[in-house]
Amino acid sequence: MTDSQALNEQTVIDYIKQTSVFSHIFDGNDDLKSQQIAEGNVNLLFRVSSEHDPIHKSVIVKQALPYAWRYPDFKMPLDRSRIEYEVLTIEGRYCPQQVPEIYHFDEEKHILIIEDLNQHLVMREGLMKQIRYPLVANHIGTFMARTLFYTSDLYLSSGEKKAMVPKFINPVLCKVQEDLVFTQPYMDHPNNRWSKLLEPQVRQIHQDDDLRSEIFELKELYMTHAQALIHNDLHTGSIMLNEHETKVVDPEFAFFGPIAHDIGSYIANLALSYASQEFHARDETVRKEYRLWLAQLVKDTWRVFENEFLTLWENEGNDDWPSPSFRKKYIQQLLQETLGFGAAEMLRRLIGMAHVHDFWTIDNEEIRAISESIGINIAVNWLKNRRKVFSIDEAVEMMLESKSSYPFI
Ligand SMILES: Nc1ncnc2c1ncn2[C@@H]1O[C@H](COP(=O)(O)OP(=O)(O)O)[C@@H](O)[C@H]1O
Ligand SMILES: [Mg+2]
Repeated sequence: MTDSQALNEQTVIDYIKQTSVFSHIFDGNDDLKSQQIAEGNVNLLFRVSSEHDPIHKSVIVKQALPYAWRYPDFKMPLDRSRIEYEVLTIEGRYCPQQVPEIYHFDEEKHILIIEDLNQHLVMREGLMKQIRYPLVANHIGTFMARTLFYTSDLYLSSGEKKAMVPKFINPVLCKVQEDLVFTQPYMDHPNNRWSKLLEPQVRQIHQDDDLRSEIFELKELYMTHAQALIHNDLHTGSIMLNEHETKVVDPEFAFFGPIAHDIGSYIANLALSYASQEFHARDETVRKEYRLWLAQLVKDTWRVFENEFLTLWENEGNDDWPSPSFRKKYIQQLLQETLGFGAAEMLRRLIGMAHVHDFWTIDNEEIRAISESIGINIAVNWLKNRRKVFSIDEAVEMMLESKSSYPFI
């Protein structure tokens, strides 16, 4: 593919007119308008909508280029678009309410056309405004349980599973995660960034070989444990929702990896939001109450996941694992690994390359340092003590007990 095939605001309309989307979504005679969506980092994204009914008649067009759209020096395989399409299809089979509808996929031009979630907000932004979503624990807990169970060896036959794994090897995008999540934050690397005021706390992390060893144990698990088809980028920026609906987008990083990596990434981003409320919820009572809501969300999400996953295993699992004790051990291990992967996700967002909105937007350096320090302490607590945790309540208790180390006295 050459650059000349990259869509722009005009050619995307011409493109749509040649596809069945034009008659299917737009009745074949709408005047169309388009706008590039600037929020994406990796791909070109456009919103194309009808001039006279832009809310109801609208689609998102996502095109993969041979590099990351925002960082052209960062080469990326075009095949990620096929992976995104196939994974959305699989997720849609097992959990249709939690994914956008797919309208069209063009394997040659690496273009995906999906439902426009124009009545939904990116979850990270919603949490920064202290919005409460009454159904999200149910939706995401169920999404994780169903997509992960149905692509695991607990459901698939050994042969089916082994036939699927090579379709989702995804080596380049996995290497991005291996480097940015599990390696660079723990070495002296030019990509790393952190708040100046937290220098002493970050130095301590860099000098802590026990901590590094825990992280590398998780990295090895991430690289070798092909447990289920995981989303592999399941943070609050990949979730779009409102009071009624929750949709998980952007599965281009998907591969067969450890189940706890998805759960951990999601819970970690709830914990990051918890920490950043130091700034976002200015009123102390509002902050306290919203933090308790987030803590409850972590518990409820895990409980929904555990119940749904065990029910599916009981009712639809294959016959190859006939042991109640093994089920118990499996879930226990998932919880402890969830805390480990969650910690890795939090630390990479605080001292690695890919920082998140929750903290960037804090313009007061001291409040940012306090918020980030709370986040680091939750992560270190989870990482180092996870083997002693036997219930989600204990894990959440550790989150509630973690305070800021800044100011250092
Ligand atoms: N189906 C959709 N409907 C509405 N907005 C979307 C949709 N998918 C993505 N977006 C918007 O585009 C942004 C980038 O999308 P994403 O899929 O994460 O792209 P990339 O992987 O290129 O970063 C999202 O944060 C969201 O704001
Ligand atoms: Mg993406």
